[in-house]
Amino acid sequence: MRTLVVGGSGFVGRYLVRHFDAVGTSGTGRDGFPKLDITRRQEVERLFERFRPELVINAAAMTNVDECERRREEAFMINADGVRNISEAAYRVKAKLVQISTDYVFDGAKGDYGEDDPTNPVNVYGSSKLRGELYALERDALVLRISSPFGINLGRGKESFFEYVLRALAGGERVKALVDQITTPTFVEDVPEAIDALVQRGSTGAFHLAVREAISRYEFAIKVAEFAGFEPGRVDRITSREMNFYARRPRDTSMKTDKISGSFRTTELSKDLKDLVTAATKHISDHRLI
Ligand SMILES: NC(=O)c1ccc[n+]([C@@H]2O[C@H](COP(=O)([O-])OP(=O)(O)OC[C@H]3O[C@@H](n4cnc5c(N)ncnc54)[C@H](OP(=O)(O)O)[C@@H]3O)[C@@H](O)[C@H]2O)c1
Repeated sequence: MRTLVVGGSGFVGRYLVRHFDAVGTSGTGRDGFPKLDITRRQEVERLFERFRPELVINAAAMTNVDECERRREEAFMINADGVRNISEAAYRVKAKLVQISTDYVFDGAKGDYGEDDPTNPVNVYGSSKLRGELYALERDALVLRISSPFGINLGRGKESFFEYVLRALAGGERVKALVDQITTPTFVEDVPEAIDALVQRGSTGAFHLAVREAISRYEFAIKVAEFAGFEPGRVDRITSREMNFYARRPRDTSMKTDKISGSFRTTELSKDLKDLVTAATKHISDHRLI
């Protein structure tokens, strides 16, 4: 299936490009990816007309939560209006659309959210992503909500929280991790597999993709330390208040995954994280990241 991954240069996007053997785009044209700015409607239309994708996966977003709060207008232009541009262009060329979304559409007051639970974002990132979901759903898209994705970043530069913990501990540093933010993280390599399974079944609407275990960043970092054979005492507890974030963070955005479990078997954190730690340790030393 001819597949276009918008935001193919990002952390999640690179796994999608690889799995679907897709053409991926970048907002800035970095690392040789063709440039596509999704806030420019005509640019989006032209590319879709030329490439005529059968499947479009949108992994492009303004993902820095504090920057979204500072630059509200830009966040809505990318995370909401950009999705509308993509949805309309995909509809016109009759392509199936998959929109990647986030657990931050919830307010985090109760946790263990199902797909049909009421949304109520507490910050601009969440509000803009929710608006994007609605635009995509108007065009019968599949919306996949993911949360704190973990894995090895195939690109250069930005590292995931998982890699930061591993690299810092391997380099003899201490690690600070939040105790008061609970999520059900998403294994990044599950994202393309789950999309493939859902697209093959013709699924539309919202789905949650995450591990089953609800866990704080602190508990996650402790697990990484233990699996990698480092002293867990080198992981320090920190609270959101101490971090002094610019944007408010939801407390517990853990998600239920019953709906997707009929189509896809999600990663089990306690079992699969161990293998990932081994792979990532090799990746970090091969690339001389420490
Ligand atoms: N990371 C998380 O913690 C998290 C949690 C839940 C959900 N998600 C969702 O998962 C998806 C992927 O996130 P990620 O972590 O892979 O993000 P990422 O690494 O920050 O990548 C973002 C991608 O969006 C592109 N982009 C940014 N502005 C653009 C614009 N105006 N036009 C076109 N492309 C633009 C970037 O291109 P360049 O950088 O190459 O210019 C990059 O390819 C997003 O929908 C995000 O909301 C992420």
